[in-house]
Amino acid sequence: MGVTISFGIQKGGVGKTTTTAISSYLLAEMGYRVLAVDFDSQGNLTGMLTQQNIYDFTERTVLQAVKEKNPVPYIHSVNDNLDVLPAEDFLSILPRYIYREYKGHPAALLRETLDVVKADYDFILIDLPPNLGDHTVNGLTASDYAVVMLQSEPFCYDALDRYLEFLTGVQNNTNPDLILGGILTTMLDARATIDSSILDQAKEDFEDLVFASVIRRKSRIKEFSIEGIQNRIKADRVALAPYQSFLEELIERVKERQVQ
Ligand SMILES: Nc1ncnc2c1ncn2[C@@H]1O[C@H](COP(=O)(O)OP(=O)(O)OP(=O)(O)O)[C@@H](O)[C@H]1O
Ligand SMILES: [Mg+2]
Repeated sequence: MGVTISFGIQKGGVGKTTTTAISSYLLAEMGYRVLAVDFDSQGNLTGMLTQQNIYDFTERTVLQAVKEKNPVPYIHSVNDNLDVLPAEDFLSILPRYIYREYKGHPAALLRETLDVVKADYDFILIDLPPNLGDHTVNGLTASDYAVVMLQSEPFCYDALDRYLEFLTGVQNNTNPDLILGGILTTMLDARATIDSSILDQAKEDFEDLVFASVIRRKSRIKEFSIEGIQNRIKADRVALAPYQSFLEELIERVKERQVQ
């Protein structure tokens, strides 16, 4: 049975999509069967992993999947181990669909949809949008684990507390089994002291919840969003290494829980 992990925080542009995409890519490379779910109407995960225009997927996205509660016809294969459930702009109408037409539980739509294929994957990774609306509620309700992204920047640190409160709300209301997988520091600029002090503060406040692996800013990572993720030359391996070590920590945490 697959383990479902969402990557979120209500702050924009902190590396959620990049981390979801690279993690999906690397887990697939490690031999796991992976489904990457784009649950943000910006469609950035779709673009990054498929290297296609997101409008190629119009009418064949996660929106149709949740409406039919069946993702199977809408899953796009990237390689033998990696599948994507794509998104484009129209995913933004999800709340309207939920409250006007849908008769079931408003928070459980994505979970019930992904349940159909959960047994087919080792990991299902969900990329969440930068807000605390219905997409995020659905994404967290569908998740076994939530990874929270922390860009080491003051505004983002304030957002972290609120996101964690929100997560507790989901645990209390719609997904009691949701586990906080950890807090991942992204886009750290090693030269800026403010960045490092926020990381130190997070470690003091949240201790072991903060992953030891830290994602630093690297221009090669930015290139991956345009050219697609590659693992050919040394610069690729160097850029991917922190994500690899984050995944090793994450897998360890998941395995520890499974043994308990
Ligand atoms: N480690 C990194 N080093 C350099 N650039 C990065 C890194 N991670 C992400 N970026 C770049 O930062 C920008 C924002 O990243 P990304 O889209 O992953 O953030 P996001 O949190 O998903 O944004 P949104 O909230 O809009 O969904 C992108 O241009 C991406 O290429
Ligand atoms: Mg994003």
